[in-house]
Amino acid sequence: MSIRRLPNIIAVALMFATILLAGCAAKPTGDLEVFSWWTAGGEAEGLAAMLEVFAEQYPDIDVINATVAGGAGVDARAVLATRMQGGDPPGSFQVHAGHELIDTYVVADQMEPVTFIYEDEGWLDVYPADLIDILSYDGEIWSVPVNIHRANVLWYNKAVFEANALTAPTTIDDFFTVAEALEDAGITPLSLGESWTVVHLFETVLLGSMGSDAYIGLWNGSTDWSSSQVTRALENFDRMLDYVNEDYAALSWDQATQLVIDGTAAMNIMGDWAEGYFKAQGWTPGVEFGWAASPGSSGSFDALSDSFGLPKDAPNRDAAIAWLKVCGSKEGQDAFNPIKGSIPANTEGDRSLYDEYLQSAMDDFASDAIVPSLMHGAAASPSWQQDVMDAVALFLGDRDVAAFQNALVAAAADAGY
Ligand code: GAL
Repeated sequence: MSIRRLPNIIAVALMFATILLAGCAAKPTGDLEVFSWWTAGGEAEGLAAMLEVFAEQYPDIDVINATVAGGAGVDARAVLATRMQGGDPPGSFQVHAGHELIDTYVVADQMEPVTFIYEDEGWLDVYPADLIDILSYDGEIWSVPVNIHRANVLWYNKAVFEANALTAPTTIDDFFTVAEALEDAGITPLSLGESWTVVHLFETVLLGSMGSDAYIGLWNGSTDWSSSQVTRALENFDRMLDYVNEDYAALSWDQATQLVIDGTAAMNIMGDWAEGYFKAQGWTPGVEFGWAASPGSSGSFDALSDSFGLPKDAPNRDAAIAWLKVCGSKEGQDAFNPIKGSIPANTEGDRSLYDEYLQSAMDDFASDAIVPSLMHGAAASPSWQQDVMDAVALFLGDRDVAAFQNALVAAAADAGY
């Protein structure tokens, strides 16, 4: 062998050694606590499917699936706040993209930015720029979104609608006509659950009554909360509450959705996690249940996104980063979202894996006006959201539209608008 070729051989050998070493780089091990509120039908199964993908890729990490029941995270968020305050963060936790994430733990300097994961995984090109925007603060990205949910959906029992020769209402006036007919037939027109689901209904009525621009303006100061268009929306909401099940305060969101399956109620206005619930109960979209935009809101997509973040000083940081990589990956999202009833945030998701409803949601997300959800952390700060929840709770007691509007005006003023 010529002596001149020796350096080349050494270089090639070194290259192989480096590749080998990288391949053998120890994968993370140990325990990882994943904290969420996904316990109901559909959402629990969706999470389990994503955890399965994780287990295949990281067999040496033991996941502690830490859940605190309660839709919209009303209870989980309180538990999380206590833990974060006490310096006891989980490895990674579910948090809504937008204000819920930024206004809490990011501004309090309790999160680690995850921009480096986006760079490493090439996600900057495969996530919608608008979504990256709402996950960003101070030049960094702060969590990894697993999905996009739609809040403004009306679900209905097809057999009940057919038996009563009804079609899904599109306008608010249609809703009242359909609701009257159902009531005459002895069926609860609209199923409703505990307090956060009432606020969820409320935001869809604001949207459906006022349109997307005015609705967006409620949260940025350009729509006046004391205006007559808000009064009309509140009157619509008041009237809608006349058509719900009496025991609503005692029901969780999924119990309210279940009334539609039982046929005791005909409609439910809920985010598309209800689709996951219907499917988990063996219902097929377009067969047993139908859907429409909530009354008056067609052309608007009331959006929210579930994401996972990296707390500062996360126990087992490497395992948490591994989890975030699966959360953001096409594989993770395509395992999770078809079951969860949401569409992938990662635009490389495989459309053919999604059912008829979810494909329609993908199309609407691409063409509708996107507006932020209040109840699910996107539209307003957690304190403003809480003020609106309090105002709605009072309103349920007194049904005084003028007092309700005053409380909402005051809430906006407290928030600086
Ligand atoms: C929402 C969340 C959804 C779903 C729902 C009911 O806030 O974004 O993923 O879990 O609550 O629990």
